[in-house]
Amino acid sequence: MKTVMFYNQKGGVGKTSIAVNFAYLAASEGFRTLLWDLDPQASATFILRGDDNDAPKASKIVSEEYSLDELAIGSNYPNLFLLASSLKMRLFAEKLAESKNPRRRLSRILDSTKDEFDLTVIDAPPNLTDLSETVISAIDMVVVPLQPSPLAIRSSQVMIEHLESIGLSDKCVALYNMVDQRRIGHRLAITNEEPVGRIPKLRSYIPYSADIEKMAISREPLPVISLTSKSSVAMKGLYNEISNLIYSR
Ligand SMILES: Nc1ncnc2c1ncn2[C@@H]1O[C@H](COP(=O)(O)OP(=O)(O)O)[C@@H](O)[C@H]1O
Ligand SMILES: [Mg+2]
Repeated sequence: MKTVMFYNQKGGVGKTSIAVNFAYLAASEGFRTLLWDLDPQASATFILRGDDNDAPKASKIVSEEYSLDELAIGSNYPNLFLLASSLKMRLFAEKLAESKNPRRRLSRILDSTKDEFDLTVIDAPPNLTDLSETVISAIDMVVVPLQPSPLAIRSSQVMIEHLESIGLSDKCVALYNMVDQRRIGHRLAITNEEPVGRIPKLRSYIPYSADIEKMAISREPLPVISLTSKSSVAMKGLYNEISNLIYSR
């Protein structure tokens, strides 16, 4: 089983929108996929039409009595499962930190489900703090969405430098989201080959698109809203690029 997390300490950069589509696209290709909504704001849960009652208590996730597939629910889509979130998930970091070796416990939690799922996609909360290092060390890949504006790039660089200082930046790739081709700064950012704070930048990027905002209104992944819109085509290209990277590791 492979694990990928969409992560940036900044909110509103597209982690949830992209995680939901990535998980949906993997599932639509036949991979049994678990989308783990780790954010107490529960936006991914909302888009996939889950609610508070679907969300397990954080202590159940951390305890070894249940495997993630027992705590997950199905979705409206074949092969796509959701570990739903609610405010209860805000206790996850604390509960995990109580275990003797949080990193090993998290690896075990993920392993408990490796026969059930081919892929786990984690939608991270913005303020993952101490937990981020534990999660990143236990998974295969971290995708950092960011807007291609100078200040957003700078704040992501600071975060990436920190991950580098603790030896965790190797798993990270940067992804430009909300790209507006009318803005010269955006055009430059997507066409240059420069890494973002020394982590490689994906070739794919996601344009600014009203369709992405519609996901939270119709509560559906982008390819269900439209398969042919520019943003949906970009999302599929992104899915292909990331999955090639994950499976080549
Ligand atoms: N490429 C995009 N184009 C237009 N709106 C976007 C795009 N990506 C995300 N959004 C919108 O920006 C807001 C924040 O996105 P979200 O995925 O919730 O970010 P995060 O999970 O990082 O907080 C949402 O309203 C979402 O619909
Ligand atoms: Mg989010």
